[in-house]
Amino acid sequence: MAKKKVSDIDVSGKKVFVRVDYNVPMDSNGNITDYTRIDASLPTLRYLLEKGASVILASHLGRPKGRDPKYSLLPVQKALSERLGVNVKFVPDCIGEEVKKEIANLKPGEVLLLENVRFYKEEESNDENFAKQWADLVDVYVCDAFGSVHRAHASVEALPRIMKQQGKPAVAGFLVEKELEYLDNAISNPKRPFAAILGGSKVSTKIGVIESLLQKVDKLLIGGGMMFTFYKAMGLDVGNSLLEKEYVSTAFEILQKAKEKGVEIILPVDVVVTDNIENPQKIKVVAKNEIPADMIGVDIGPATIKLFSDELKNCKTIFWNGPLGVFEKDEFAKGTIEIAKVLANLKDAVKIIGGGDSAAAVAKAGVESKMTHISTGGGASLEFIEGKPLPGIVVLDDK
Ligand code: 3PG
Repeated sequence: MAKKKVSDIDVSGKKVFVRVDYNVPMDSNGNITDYTRIDASLPTLRYLLEKGASVILASHLGRPKGRDPKYSLLPVQKALSERLGVNVKFVPDCIGEEVKKEIANLKPGEVLLLENVRFYKEEESNDENFAKQWADLVDVYVCDAFGSVHRAHASVEALPRIMKQQGKPAVAGFLVEKELEYLDNAISNPKRPFAAILGGSKVSTKIGVIESLLQKVDKLLIGGGMMFTFYKAMGLDVGNSLLEKEYVSTAFEILQKAKEKGVEIILPVDVVVTDNIENPQKIKVVAKNEIPADMIGVDIGPATIKLFSDELKNCKTIFWNGPLGVFEKDEFAKGTIEIAKVLANLKDAVKIIGGGDSAAAVAKAGVESKMTHISTGGGASLEFIEGKPLPGIVVLDDK
């Protein structure tokens, strides 16, 4: 990586501001349901504590409109204390007098978690005056929030930029370093054949990534809700399935472009359909050209699972983003789970999971340990693959 990392600088005795991504899923009682992002931050935190730094942690949680206890990071403090084996202090704000005092009193080896930075609108507007309040209190900036590096927000972009102007280091943490390394290796220098599996509901949100992948992959397997827009572009009827009418011509162009580039686009040959997603009375498997007018496509069918599995068998690099059906509902999760298992069984392929729902699907299939890398950033990994500059990375010190 061309950016400086935390082990390239002296942090002992320093007050180190670490932007982490503790935007973790919680149930309605405020219990954390997945600890992946907390655990992924531990190597950097342990390193800093071993080196005698005082650690100030900042993160967002959800998309609150102003201060809202539902989005408090307090549950994270408890989980982090247990997992880190250190009593993490918590301050119920992210700026202001109390924060100033707590940071000033923080000793080497101590950790302070600030409250949700999105309780202030200035975070998302990347407000420099807001960020400067932190810059003046700390000595070093570490970015370990891979899931947020595509956001030009105050704790991600303005703060390290201001700290650099003040002559202070702004570097990457170990998680960010690892994420960039795996994604970059897989995408820029893939072992071939290289396949990408794309799912998720909308083609409109994936156009950039598809365009970019067409330059790199040998085959592109498409499932999820977006397959129906491709079906329509091929002249098939999709019944009541999700369809982005205004993107049918884009899907058609993508199919043409793939042909010109010699990239195989592999679409499902059969589909699981239902009368109602929430309360299904009828569920059946139909061929791609037999979707009934009154039914909704919700998963890839068994013949497609077999087809995808055969197509992936000889691949040496596989990138996967997006579930292949409505996997949150057990009835429609089979295609996604089975493909996760197919990947798990491939012994000598590099298997990269692009965060978000695909990471959740791999967890649901219980095969996390069989993947080469599961990114902690859904949006961030897609923007990286698209080749977009990531503001939270661009701003860090060059090596
Ligand atoms: C994520 O979960 O993708 C990141 O934490 C970013 O969250 P955001 O999409 O609300 O900015």
